[in-house]
Amino acid sequence: MKNYKDYVNHSRKITDLHMSMAVLGWDQETKMPKNGSKFRSQQLSTLAEISHKLSIDNDYGNLLLKLSNDNSLDKDQSRNIELSLKKFEKSKKYSSDFIIEESKLISIAFQKWRLAKENNDFTIFENSLENLVELRKKECELLGYKEHPYDALLNEYEPGLTTSEVEIIFSNIRDYLIPFIKKISCEAKIEDSFYFQYFNKDKQWGFGINLLEKMGYDFDSGRQDISAHPFSTHFSPEDARVTTRIDENNLSEMIWSCIHEGGHALYEQGILSKNYGLPLGETISLGIHESQSRLWENNVGRSHAYWKNNYNSLKSIFPEQLSEVSANNFYQAANNVKPSLIRTNADELTYHLHVLIRFEIEKSLIEGSISVKNLPSIWNAKYKEYLGIDVPSDSKGVLQDIHWSHGSFGYFPTYTIGSFYAAQFYNQALNDIPNLENEIEEGNMKNLLDWLRKNIHQHGKRYDAQELCIKVTGVKLDFKYFMDYVKEKYTKIYSLK
Ligand code: CO
Repeated sequence: MKNYKDYVNHSRKITDLHMSMAVLGWDQETKMPKNGSKFRSQQLSTLAEISHKLSIDNDYGNLLLKLSNDNSLDKDQSRNIELSLKKFEKSKKYSSDFIIEESKLISIAFQKWRLAKENNDFTIFENSLENLVELRKKECELLGYKEHPYDALLNEYEPGLTTSEVEIIFSNIRDYLIPFIKKISCEAKIEDSFYFQYFNKDKQWGFGINLLEKMGYDFDSGRQDISAHPFSTHFSPEDARVTTRIDENNLSEMIWSCIHEGGHALYEQGILSKNYGLPLGETISLGIHESQSRLWENNVGRSHAYWKNNYNSLKSIFPEQLSEVSANNFYQAANNVKPSLIRTNADELTYHLHVLIRFEIEKSLIEGSISVKNLPSIWNAKYKEYLGIDVPSDSKGVLQDIHWSHGSFGYFPTYTIGSFYAAQFYNQALNDIPNLENEIEEGNMKNLLDWLRKNIHQHGKRYDAQELCIKVTGVKLDFKYFMDYVKEKYTKIYSLK
């Protein structure tokens, strides 16, 4: 390996392996028969092993070092080298013993978590979770950090984000969002029972496909399937897929999972194909990814204008169920604020209290200031404190999320960061596209998608998250944009004084 071209080829090979793993992963969640799982895990771990070898290859590392001092490269090329070198140096920090230990612990933990959840018995999962927390603590020391060990874990998902920055975000939530939610809870309840009638599966499917098409999702470069948990994945910008889940007794499940996952996939479809296999051909971070899904799901998909446009076609598909429901009723019910047990079903305000609880717990676990065996009681106390809810069982409490069983710590905050980036980006889009709300009301979302493509998608990792935010909106991530958005929206919906 001698020059930039060799670097590109090698980097693309690593990506080819990752994308192949993604195809197998997609198949596992959507199509694979039950008995496929044994050899599937073997196939996946073989690919993981090969790609790890390629990514810590010595010749590759030497080439990256050499190119990082090469002044003949242009700006984009240098950026690719800078990020690839960072990744290389990080991969080098992991011994193969660590990687093997990690994958072993995770596969046991995942099984134990499923069993524990099924049997509503946290003690089944307890030891495995302890092992994973210890492993992550070791990892923090291995990777290094400036202020707080949790920084090292956050960095995995949101490069550059620190624990103290997350603390500030959540203290804003405590100071401003919680009192606002309390104010709402004193108002009359919104009627939303019409969501929970029988809605035929095939008809729901058709409506969801139509919503994706209207967003500008390209079905020649993607497809939608059914899975137990909705997700999006991609194998290149020209094949970015989504899945959804349909509940015949709850209409909201399908609608907002389609729009949410569609938002993720639009980001992937907007990455430039010429950068495939290079950092500039990758999305920035989980927080920015989530900003794209939430901008579509909440700022657009739960707006008045959006339902002014889409409600009539929904009503024509389900005339009986919706005969007494107006577009405005439908919009209000889509924004019903109500503290609840399960994070994934939460409204766009109380959602962040669920994340706050997980952040506080993760940080304390990594610091070692609380122990795993006390998690159920700590969890329940926090749900009482922040959401005013009694948790009836660990299955619906501390065992509800899959993340910890996968060894993912530091992931949850990116959901909240994503919503806040979304509000800030959308505010800018409204400034830059003066008739945006009217356009949405007319079902025209082309200018919005073009704006996202131009300002965010096409850049890949050219900027880091904060740089991008400043470039697009003029300022750093600021909670104020989210708070202003929810204040304006919910003051109207709930006729607050
Ligand atoms: Co998402």
